[in-house]
Amino acid sequence: MKLIIVKDAAEMSRKAAEIFAARIKKKANLVLGLATGSTPEKMYAELAKMNRRKEVDFTEVSTFNLDEYVGLRGDHDQSYRYFMNKNLFNKINIQKENTHVPDGMALDTKETCKLYELAIKGAGGVDLQLLGIGSNGHIAFNEPGSPKASRTRVVKLTKNTIKDNSRFFKKVSEVPTKALSMGNGTINEAKEIVLIANGANKAKAVKATLEGPVTEAVPASLVRDHKKITFILDEEAASLLTKKK
Ligand code: F6R
Repeated sequence: MKLIIVKDAAEMSRKAAEIFAARIKKKANLVLGLATGSTPEKMYAELAKMNRRKEVDFTEVSTFNLDEYVGLRGDHDQSYRYFMNKNLFNKINIQKENTHVPDGMALDTKETCKLYELAIKGAGGVDLQLLGIGSNGHIAFNEPGSPKASRTRVVKLTKNTIKDNSRFFKKVSEVPTKALSMGNGTINEAKEIVLIANGANKAKAVKATLEGPVTEAVPASLVRDHKKITFILDEEAASLLTKKK
């Protein structure tokens, strides 16, 4: 496990983008696992900038997003497909057909989740997975208590997550209560993981992840012992850690 503590969100974003760009330079057809949310926004802007400057080429890259709300269409401004198009895919030279986000409007969600897993396998597995972390320690929408071996499936969001995410909606009642999410087991199979976190509201979850027990009660702790994982934290997110190396 590698721990990088940086000054602020800007530096966290640059560092993470540099890692992603370096891996793509090494393997042009890299398979990325991607996250949404506030945390990766600046990192995606960095990657878009690098792509504009022709420092990184996404022509052969393919992507699989971690999750999507159930009931939101891809053109809904709070869907994760919309987020990805707006913040990254529309700004880089990726081929849209190589980008995958679980289909929140699927009628047969079970089958959709099964096919998503198969698509990841068919692409050769995720080479590099980006993760954020929820203030309750969730990764993707694997809420506390999600089984270690869980796969892509429909999950119910906790009150905590609905409240956290309501900042993007007009009313809390508009926040979807279910999502399709890769499982902890799916995520752990990525060949490499980069987890980014910034801000004081993540400090408790980061502390529990890195210094608490490995437990399903804190899903992020389940990736801590991954064979190739880098945590990039800003000073605020790392503020409660006793061991800063
Ligand atoms: C979203 C995802 C979530 C977020 C987490 C943190 O694709 O995987 O687990 O990473 O909820 O969200 P932000 O970055 O908005 O604090």
